[in-house]
Amino acid sequence: MSAAAPAYPARLTAAEPGWATYADVIVIGSGVAGLTAALRARAVGSVLVVTKAVLDEGSTRWAQGGIAAALGEGDTPEQHMQDTLVAGAGLCDEEAVRVLVTEGPGAVRRLMAVGAEFDRDADGSIMLTREGGHLRNRIAHAGGDATGAEISRALVQAVHEAGIEVIEHALVLDLLRDDEGRACGVTLHVMGEGARDGVGAVHGRAVVLAAGGMGQVFSSTTNPHVSTGDGVALALRAGAEVADLEFVQFHPTVLWVGPGAEGQQPLVSEAVRGEGAHLVDADGVRFMTGRHPLGELAPRDIVAKGIMSRIAETGAEHMYLDARHFGAEMWAERFPTILASCRAHGIDPVHDLIPVAPAAHYASGGVRTDLHGRTSVPGLYACGEVACTGVQGANRLASNSLLEGLVFAERIAEDLARDLPPRREPARPAGPSGLLDAGIRLPLQRAMTAGAGVLRSRDSLAETTRVLAELGTRAGTDPCTETWEATNLHTVASALAAAAYDREETRGCHWREDFPDADDKDWRGHLVTTMAAGRLDLAYQPYEPKETP
Ligand code: SIN
Repeated sequence: MSAAAPAYPARLTAAEPGWATYADVIVIGSGVAGLTAALRARAVGSVLVVTKAVLDEGSTRWAQGGIAAALGEGDTPEQHMQDTLVAGAGLCDEEAVRVLVTEGPGAVRRLMAVGAEFDRDADGSIMLTREGGHLRNRIAHAGGDATGAEISRALVQAVHEAGIEVIEHALVLDLLRDDEGRACGVTLHVMGEGARDGVGAVHGRAVVLAAGGMGQVFSSTTNPHVSTGDGVALALRAGAEVADLEFVQFHPTVLWVGPGAEGQQPLVSEAVRGEGAHLVDADGVRFMTGRHPLGELAPRDIVAKGIMSRIAETGAEHMYLDARHFGAEMWAERFPTILASCRAHGIDPVHDLIPVAPAAHYASGGVRTDLHGRTSVPGLYACGEVACTGVQGANRLASNSLLEGLVFAERIAEDLARDLPPRREPARPAGPSGLLDAGIRLPLQRAMTAGAGVLRSRDSLAETTRVLAELGTRAGTDPCTETWEATNLHTVASALAAAAYDREETRGCHWREDFPDADDKDWRGHLVTTMAAGRLDLAYQPYEPKETP
């Protein structure tokens, strides 16, 4: 493998912890995965949730479409599995997918028992819709298109009612390990939380990483400002294996709000197409027809590529969604969030076409786990978007992510119940790598979008890598949240670009214009990234299913 990744010379380091606290299980992150893990892990001991902003600020809250599970009449876990494997383009771990689809329906019911309310049909059954790549209606939703907000509401309330301790405004820095290398805590940078202000440490018997995604490595993304890849960066610094980073999903239909728009962009859920909206160009041509048998409801990578190809063919800046035929009542009832965000940008989808273009949405790769959420570092678990459980393969099936967060968080709690080691004292922290200047964030995001975005090539990735190497020489002068975020973004962007450079094929959501076909002979396998002494290393591992638990 080529080593396109730069090294990180040690420069500025974070201060020593000024305070310390303890919990048996430390959960990093407060989305569906983190809060589910926290609620279930109460049975094994004390739990502390650490979150970067406030409890309901992560990506879960923004999820619109819903949660996929074989809940409908005539649907089966086997059919859900087939659809997931097709979307994953040969790289899903079949055992992990089997776990997801068979345990999924029960996990959704347990979520409802916690208090999440899904939309219902007139007969009281859960209303199910379709999204790209699903051959059945199996997406449960809430508040029309506010599914994540409802799940977040229910879980946050349950966490408060359970009296689980929470530290908010806390950026996780590094993993603490005992002298045998087992995870036994984390260091944090906390802003404005009284006695726990500044750098501190939480000691514990296990650490569950549920820190969310890394969409902010790109300049245009559906992810909130906080999604800076902190969990993957921490895991790399701790020596954990990270896999499939090149498989970043670009959501096909993100509201196009103007040329060069940057930062978090409004999503227009796939469910809008699931309910019958059409993708058209400026002449009203339905360009997905004929590109895939499922047309506009093809898997997400295929629709994103279809849009980008049509943009290239026509010289337009975006395509359009046409859902005028829904009418005012359906828009207001079924998609109130999207209706409001379109109107806030001067578009009335009841009368207007909705301008859309792809933007970074979801990291299919992440911190590699087994079927119980265990990473390659003993005592460190991962679930949710930060994890690579094997479920997503080269391209996540729509609305499988909330389900994955639920199912694998529950599995982690079960594993903790079987095997929570005694309290251990941390050896000295591994020590963070040098911190980078907060000002690199925007140039980094632009370089990633330009060279490692939807369409990639050896040349574009080499240029991105060159810019990243240059940005990596800009040392930070102040160990604050912004420098940590910039450093984490730089670590994950460098790892992502290196993997995308190495993978000389097109598969799932990794699209190389210089290698336009999938190459099963040389590339049906995973690129696994590790970091040692500040240097990233990539290894290719041919596809091999995980063992049945
Ligand atoms: C959407 O509503 O289109 C997003 C759902 C997902 O990312 O799975």
